Amino acid sequence: MALHRLTSVTIGVPNVDSTAAYYAEFGLSPTQNGRFATVDGGEQLHLVQAPHRRLIELGIGADDADDLARVAAALRRLAIAVEQKPEAVVAVDPGTAVRVVLTAAPRISQSGVGAPPSNGPGRSDRATCRADAVLRAGPVRPRKLGHVVLGSTDLEASQRFFIDGIGFKVSDTIAGLASFLRCSTDHHNLLVQPAPVALLHHTSWQVEDVDEIGRGARAMLAVDPARHVWGLGRHHIGSNFFWYLRDPAGNFTEYYADLDCILDDQLWKPGVWDGANSLYSWGPPVPPSFLAPDDLAELMAGAHS
Ligand SMILES: [Fe+2]
Repeated sequence: MALHRLTSVTIGVPNVDSTAAYYAEFGLSPTQNGRFATVDGGEQLHLVQAPHRRLIELGIGADDADDLARVAAALRRLAIAVEQKPEAVVAVDPGTAVRVVLTAAPRISQSGVGAPPSNGPGRSDRATCRADAVLRAGPVRPRKLGHVVLGSTDLEASQRFFIDGIGFKVSDTIAGLASFLRCSTDHHNLLVQPAPVALLHHTSWQVEDVDEIGRGARAMLAVDPARHVWGLGRHHIGSNFFWYLRDPAGNFTEYYADLDCILDDQLWKPGVWDGANSLYSWGPPVPPSFLAPDDLAELMAGAHS
């Protein structure tokens, strides 16, 4: 039938122990052998040893064997080497060097969370009581892996690989730069942008609402304020609230909530954006390190060694 979600990411880092401790504090649940689970998505993060930080593997879930066969055929038409097994189709994107593993996987099932009542001008939907958000206690627990942003040394090849090969759909485009791609009903599950070296920019993890973003970031920054990258804000493309933090290896991790959902492809009109709106609607100014990670020169040197 179709692709329906990201299943998992495998991230290589030089410092597995400290990075693992970070993701546990971020709210993912350690399972075994460097793997971490979200509340609704199961094991979605695997940390492995690598000389430099990078995304090693991206898992994508499809409905059935027909989807796998269709994707394998599409990749072969692009002259991309494909490893086809009964349970998986494996291929490497030439621009990001990421190994993509497509499997037939169960769809994610999420119990709906009702929006907490709120007050507004002339409206007291939460009458005579404190906001639920200020009474919440306990750690923030991400519900699922939402999206991944990658740097590619060959953007055209990466777009071809992910759109024409794997079958991602384009939700919106930043003129001349990058496209927001989806393999589910989420506005985006993948964005590939041009970069001087193949790199993982960030992974993004869904939480219930904007208050969970604030609570999560506050807890992470209480341990180490240097983890802060950018937030709190609201993106224009995709509409989601965001807060970006940095793991000990240098990868950014985003808490997000209230992303656009595209349930009917026919009704969504992809836009082409440029200028200030392409990055955010509101929030603090964009830090330069968000656009060009501080370790870029190091990663480039590593790629050539
Ligand atoms: Fe993001």
